[in-house]
Amino acid sequence: MCGIIGYIGKEKAGDILIEGLRRLEYRGYDSAGIATIDNGQIKIIKSVGKLRQLEKILRNSSLSGNIGIGHTRWATHGKPSDENAHPHSDCHNQIVVVHNGIIENYIELREELIKKGHKIVSETDTEIIAHLIEEYHKNHSFEEAVSLSLKNLKGAYALGILHSQHPDTIIAARLGSPLIIGLGENEHFIASDIPAILSHTRQIIFLDEEEMAIIKADEVKVTDLNGCIKSKTFHQITWDPIMAEKDGYKHFMLKEIHEQPRAIEDTMRGNLKEDDIFLDEVKLSSEDIDKIKKVFIVACGTSYHAALVGKFMLEELSLIPTEVDIGSEFRYRQPLIDDKVLFITISQSGETADSIAALREAKRKGAKVISICNVLGSTITRESDGVIYTHAGPEIGVASTKAFTTQLVALYMFSIYLGRRKRALSPQKAKELILELRKLPQCVINVLKSAEEIKNYTKYYFKCNDFLFLGRGINYPIALEGALKLKEISYIHAEGYPAGEMKHGPIALIDENMPVVTIATESKVYDKILSNIEEVKARDGIVIALANSDNQRIMDIANHVTHISKINELLSPVLNVIPLQMLAYYIAEKRGCDVDQPRNLAKSVTVE
Ligand code: M6R
Repeated sequence: MCGIIGYIGKEKAGDILIEGLRRLEYRGYDSAGIATIDNGQIKIIKSVGKLRQLEKILRNSSLSGNIGIGHTRWATHGKPSDENAHPHSDCHNQIVVVHNGIIENYIELREELIKKGHKIVSETDTEIIAHLIEEYHKNHSFEEAVSLSLKNLKGAYALGILHSQHPDTIIAARLGSPLIIGLGENEHFIASDIPAILSHTRQIIFLDEEEMAIIKADEVKVTDLNGCIKSKTFHQITWDPIMAEKDGYKHFMLKEIHEQPRAIEDTMRGNLKEDDIFLDEVKLSSEDIDKIKKVFIVACGTSYHAALVGKFMLEELSLIPTEVDIGSEFRYRQPLIDDKVLFITISQSGETADSIAALREAKRKGAKVISICNVLGSTITRESDGVIYTHAGPEIGVASTKAFTTQLVALYMFSIYLGRRKRALSPQKAKELILELRKLPQCVINVLKSAEEIKNYTKYYFKCNDFLFLGRGINYPIALEGALKLKEISYIHAEGYPAGEMKHGPIALIDENMPVVTIATESKVYDKILSNIEEVKARDGIVIALANSDNQRIMDIANHVTHISKINELLSPVLNVIPLQMLAYYIAEKRGCDVDQPRNLAKSVTVE
């Protein structure tokens, strides 16, 4: 998972590349580098460490040129080091390459190239691409050399390529990893995603699988790997560039937590009628809907937790049995999938390799596939039959927050939509559910008002080594999500459990050092949760509870209570997850952790 940027035009490429890399740093941040062509010579500057290391070196160098490529890396092959940082070049420093993805057959290719006399200096799978192009370039044009090389590669790539003898051209290509082209006036850009170039242009072309683009300052030509011209559509992006900035918050994650009322509102926008939901882009005909006997939802990480919540919503509102699986598990088992299955993939990025593989498998078996996704034009959306977009806007913090709550809203809307079309829901019931949904943004604003109070009590717990999160029913996945948020950004060990399971094991952990975060808002199992809280207190455990404000017993026994507005139980996960996001954030912040770029993690996991 890496970030790629490229520029050709009249401006100084180095400055534009660095600015783009800053916006891409969330994709990977163990090393970075840029290359330009200056007076017919390739100039490369790269460094291990975060982007600021590279910026420091650049301040003392004179890197000129109006064409260049840049890269921010998240290591897959070869440790983070100066040698392994991109860009990588051929033997004569004439061809230079930046790459996102994994070349699976790089060992064989490397051996062949070494036999032919190439000197490979890094441990990466990327460097061999520059050497392969060099080899083909002996007898072919630059463009042909690239396409012949690409035909030899197995695996995934998004590539930006320069050649010093062609100082007016960037070649870009993609297979399995995202790449876009930004169109300007006498200048063009390539990037792994939209925010990287949004301050320069809003006109975007999405490269498709096995496409190559030959990009000059005044021309973009897209071809397949045989050189046949492909006609491409431009997309006009409406995102505000300020949406991709921190907006005065200390971290992107905090900003994104506070953006949730707006993100939810935007996700609902245009889809709600008085007693029905209209989701035009799901593209399910009435015959498709009649056919559905089962729903299968597959996702990873936080999106998987959304899927678990979605199961409750779909089964209750559409009465269709729903199965949920993790992307990396699904692809290695043999679930019964056929044309009576509606398959749903949930993904913030739309580029998660395990979810893409699951989607392809389901399609191969004949299922109709729809996706819930936040990134327009991403691989998952392009390969799905229909899409529900979450309009969360760009999510930069590695820890997913607004993407999750908007996924829950999309699932709730889809459950009503399906329930109505399957005649499992009356117009009256749909109307009540939609009314509840309309209340949601204001309820989220109310929960966000607890930020100060949560921040205050984290001072007692930020040094704890372990946390337990308990929830039941539709809020059990929220206990899992609360634990995931805490561990990924604060590095504290945390577990999410269904509260009723506590007596079967985890209760042994409880003592005066163990904070137990309990989701105890009104529900069918409210009394049982209350008993679980009593059990924790009886063993001197620390109880942090989420509850509706009218419950005196919880106020009496819990150490801290965050008040949650009352809402339909199916929507309660949207409200309950927010204090848990804030809890994780303030603890991580007090521990001095790198909240937006936690160690070992990357925003989008495009490898298996
Ligand atoms: O982009 P996706 O939603 O497909 O990503 C799935 C997971 O990698 C992601 O949710 C991950 O677990 C986040 N770091 C959670 O905060």
